[in-house]
Amino acid sequence: MNNPARGIVAVVTGAASGIGRAAVEIILERGGSVVAFDTSPESLTWLSEYSNAVPFIGDVTIDADNRAAIELAETSFGRLDALILNAGVPASGSIETLDMEVFDQSINVNLRAVALGVREVIPAFRRNGGGSVVVTASATALGGEPNRWPYAAAKAGVVNLARSFALDLANDGIRVNTVCPGPISTGMTKRIEENTPDRYESLKTMVPLHRWGTAREVGEVIAFLASPLASFVTGATVPVDGGATCGSGQTIPVPQRAAV
Ligand SMILES: NC(=O)c1ccc[n+]([C@@H]2O[C@H](COP(=O)([O-])OP(=O)(O)OC[C@H]3O[C@@H](n4cnc5c(N)ncnc54)[C@H](O)[C@@H]3O)[C@@H](O)[C@H]2O)c1
Repeated sequence: MNNPARGIVAVVTGAASGIGRAAVEIILERGGSVVAFDTSPESLTWLSEYSNAVPFIGDVTIDADNRAAIELAETSFGRLDALILNAGVPASGSIETLDMEVFDQSINVNLRAVALGVREVIPAFRRNGGGSVVVTASATALGGEPNRWPYAAAKAGVVNLARSFALDLANDGIRVNTVCPGPISTGMTKRIEENTPDRYESLKTMVPLHRWGTAREVGEVIAFLASPLASFVTGATVPVDGGATCGSGQTIPVPQRAAV
């Protein structure tokens, strides 16, 4: 775990698409090995291009599935260095009418499953002499958003969950950090682009860098935090949002300069 030149062994949840897939590809490109954890075999067929990757089909809300994915990494690759808890689901609706099952599902996948994953990985990381947990939270964790209370609450919760685990697990050499992506073009946000193109465009004006981010841009930060290059980083909450959350909320970003 301490040699930055050695590729890392990681379990990545929500690995089939978007940010999770980008993180898997970056780790594999840099000589690492990955157990790619998602819900359906069809969604992971692209993994067959890589020799150091094994698919794991399961559900992050089930503790036995988290345990089995971690065991698979140890039996396949001899150790586990990083657990990337990236699986997530969107959730929104009116507080007056939304079925509370949507809220429960958001808490279950976006928050509770992260606690399950961390609980299950501790023995493997102790055997390894340490390890790194990276959690994909959201810029929505850092402030409220209209109608997105089920998602915002779960993502805000996961930030403090990770900070607390960072304190609990530091003596075991286990680092725990979160990334907070802003608007990123992925499967999760495709419906915004397709169904509400005006909203898709207007979100760019809320981002000081004036664009949506790519899954790869988030994957790079995840891969860094997962690696020994980030050996003195724990308990951190890292926005990857083009500056969307760096303002006071009392101004709008400086408009994009017209092309000359
Ligand atoms: N795309 C964005 O703009 C954005 C912004 C902020 C945060 N995020 C977060 O980034 C993470 C990745 O999202 P994405 O945008 O790449 O979306 P995505 O839909 O492309 O990927 C999410 C993956 O999680 C998997 N998943 C969902 N529930 C699961 C479960 N119970 N067990 C196992 N796998 C499960 C899905 O099958 C899917 O492959 C999520 O946690 C999301 O909340 C995304």
